[in-house]
Amino acid sequence: MNGKPQTSPSAIYPGSFDPLTLGHLFVIERAAAVFPRVLVAVVVNPQKREPLFTLEERKQMIVAATKHLKNVEVRDFRGLLADFAKATGAGVIVKGLRVISDFENEMSTALMNRSLSGIDTMFVPSDPMYSFVSSSLVKEVFSLGGEIDPYVPEAVLHVMRAKRATQRSTEPSEEKHPS
Ligand code: PNS
Repeated sequence: MNGKPQTSPSAIYPGSFDPLTLGHLFVIERAAAVFPRVLVAVVVNPQKREPLFTLEERKQMIVAATKHLKNVEVRDFRGLLADFAKATGAGVIVKGLRVISDFENEMSTALMNRSLSGIDTMFVPSDPMYSFVSSSLVKEVFSLGGEIDPYVPEAVLHVMRAKRATQRSTEPSEEKHPS
């Protein structure tokens, strides 16, 4: 048609995934339906704050939740996403958009990533069911005893419950430390 090879580019879907939510999983599934290969790229040191989950926990939760998707791979990266994306040969960066304010932030990031690497970002509209779901909110609700089953994959739920059980068993008892 235009002389360019008619092959689909592989996609890279970056994030902190602290932890993966059903909103993230929806974006991965949509991308996996369009691109021949989707690399979920877990940032080692998220910018926002110290992660609740270790890098290995974050990666393992994604691997478990995406095992039904044969063209999805999970890797971690440090430094610039643009450099990592180029090094992996990704043709496209995928990002999910939940609300308009996401677009405002993501647009400048997409332009910077294109300027640094020449790789464009494609946006996937989130499932409206999860437009209010974020990793930070899930962690907050969970830490205050709320139900998070509707917002995270089963694999994440197991790890979060196990983490809470470990934290409880290592917490000093109230008897030893009366307030
Ligand atoms: O899930 P998050 O926390 O919104 O993901 C943010 C992430 C990891 C995609 C972003 O912080 C990132 O790309 N970090 C790598 C460092 C980088 O490339 N910074 C310049 C962005 S233009």
